[in-house]
Formats: sequence, C-alpha cells, structure tokens
Amino acid sequence: MQQGRTTISKFLIEQLRGSEDQSDLAALLIDVTAAVKAIASMTAKGALGGFLGSLGTENVQGETQKKLDVLSNDAMIQACEWGGLVAGMASEEMDDPYTLPKEFERGPYLLVFDPLDGSSNIDVNVSVGTIFSVLRHGKIGDPTVADYLRPGVEQVAAGYAIYGPSTMMVLTVGKGTHGFTLDREIGNFILTHPDLQIPADTVEYAINSSNERFWEPPVQRYVAECKAGKTGDRGRDFNTRWIASMVADVHRILMRGGIFMYPKDAKDPSKPGRLRLMYEANPIAFIIEQAGGAASTGRGRILTVQPTSLHQRVPVMLGSRNEIERLERYHREYDSGEDKPFASPLFKDRSLYNDDVRA
Ligand code: AHG
Ligand code: MN
Ligand code: MN
Repeated sequence: MQQGRTTISKFLIEQLRGSEDQSDLAALLIDVTAAVKAIASMTAKGALGGFLGSLGTENVQGETQKKLDVLSNDAMIQACEWGGLVAGMASEEMDDPYTLPKEFERGPYLLVFDPLDGSSNIDVNVSVGTIFSVLRHGKIGDPTVADYLRPGVEQVAAGYAIYGPSTMMVLTVGKGTHGFTLDREIGNFILTHPDLQIPADTVEYAINSSNERFWEPPVQRYVAECKAGKTGDRGRDFNTRWIASMVADVHRILMRGGIFMYPKDAKDPSKPGRLRLMYEANPIAFIIEQAGGAASTGRGRILTVQPTSLHQRVPVMLGSRNEIERLERYHREYDSGEDKPFASPLFKDRSLYNDDVRA
C-alpha cells in the first residue's frame, strides 16, 4: 500500500472508534465492500462475462429481472450472511426478507439494499450502482418484516457504490459523507473524496420529463420556471441531466451540486412515486443530508417517513438545499390553495399555458 493513503477499513475504524457501533459496523461495511468488488468485476466484464440480458423472471414489483440484478443480490447475501453481523437482509430483488441459514450467528444489524440500481442501463454500458442501508436490530431471533419498517432517521450507516469509469463507494455513518475509489491493482477502496459538500444553490436539475403531464402542479410549476430560464421568474438559465440510474445522478449532485426529482405522478395512481423508500430513498437521503443537502417528498423530510411495507414507494426530491426548499414551498402554496395551478405569474404571462393566448 502506498504511504499516506487511507483505506476504507482504516477510515471506518477511526470514524467509529469509541461509538456504540465500534467494530461491528466497520466489519459489516467492509463485508459490503467485498460484495461491491464482486459486482464491480461482473459489471466491468460486460458482454465478455456472459452476465448481460434478462432472466425472464419478475421481482415483487413486476419488473423484469436482469441476470445482474440477481447475481448482485447473491453477491451481497454471500458477503454479508456469514459474519455474525446481520440478523437478516432485505432487498429489491427478494419479495420477503432473507432468513439466514441456521449455521450462521445472528448479528446486531439489518441490511437493506438495492443490489443493482439503474439496471435498465446494464445492457447499454452506462453507469449502474448498488445502494445499501443499515438499521439496528434490537431483538433476539430472526427479524420479522415489521422489524425492518424503521424510518430513515434510524439508519446507522448508508451508502452506494457506482460502477462507472471508476468504481467508487460513497458512504456515511452519520459523520459526513465520504467517497472512496477502488484501486483495482491492490483491490482496495481508498479515501479520495473526504467530506463531500453539496452547494446550496444550483442551475442543474434531473427529472424524467416524459412524465411531465402526470406530475402534480407544484412540480410542473418548478420545472416550467427552470425551462423559462433567463426570460422567466428565476432570471437564470438551467440545465438538465437524466441518466436513469439514480446512483449516477446522485453522484453528479455530490460532485458538483444539482437536484434530482422522481416525484409522485398520476401515470399509475396506485403508486405514490417510482423509487422505493427503504433501499433507495432512505439511504440516498441520509447521504445527501450528511453532505449538507436536503431530501424531501415535497411535503416533508424523506428520513421521517414511517414505512408501512418493505417495498413501498415514495416521491423523491433531493440535492441542493435552496432548490429543495423552493420545491417544498411550491407544494405548500399549492396545498393551501395560495397557488392554484396556472395562477402563478409564469402561467399567467407565458403564452403556452395561457387560455387567452390559446383561445
Ligand atoms: P432499479 O434499476 O433499481 O429498478 O432503479 C431504477 C430507478 C432509478 O435508478 C432511476 O432514477 C429510475 O428508476 C429511472 O426511471 P425511468 O425509467 O423513469 O427513467
Ligand atoms: Mn434502484
Ligand atoms: Mn435495482
């Protein structure tokens, strides 16, 4: 190892020294890095590895599973089930929580994860990731589903890996958000991005605009104002990005600011959002808040949402604080009737939305 470099294990042991979670949490997170390295190796092989394509099966949310979704899920289970650190695991790719085999000791934590985020991007060689959240399991015996249903404020650690041109892990144990880059030659993650901070202001936003007609009016108002740019209320031009891997969009926001939105939409009224609370929204919200950003449903902090089911969905708006606060204000104004749809100056003055002009 080169002198002066901080490995992820050294960093975690130092960060957690003297805390209630001391060695167990560091050990669990190091087991997670083992799974991440295995997934990084599979994703990097691409078409040569024989891992691309779909399996023809569906997960509990009715999404077609890719081979790599399932292989990544297996990698996380194998890396974390044996060490006596978790009491159970739950993931996007398993209908019910995973019960550890009898021979393994039960540990103090619950691990919840999205083994491969952005998996629609696998076959087109665009960045994907892994997201994980660690909760305490305060009981003896195997956890029930109810034991997993803890709000995000109770997470003791959260993180993601991004499999991009380089593989990185970004994580928090509640003491800031820190980034590590995989040095493939030595097989270790090295601290490269300590204390990430998201600027409070930004001119960059990420949203899947094809859903625009299904959004709620406050989100339509926000995006319409961004699009109006210099000629509208905001008085400055904005820029959009959409990778369709939340991990990659969030990583960009941690590197240079911005906001990410996957709001509630009326496309499928049975779903209160696209992203899943327990293993997508909560861990990412923890990371974003620890980097000085904000993470909201539009109507409240994501981390205080009380989960009612393992795979529940939630509206997500996160990133640069001042923009997220603006979005929350637009929701408040809309809910209180202060800002009726099409009553904002933008909708009054701009021709596209103006009945008089359309008439
Ligand atoms: P997953 O691949 O784990 O199902 O998650 C995909 C998520 C998220 O990563 C991304 O931002 C969003 O879905 C993409 O949604 P669209 O297909 O609407 O672009
Ligand atoms: Mn995902
Ligand atoms: Mn996934």
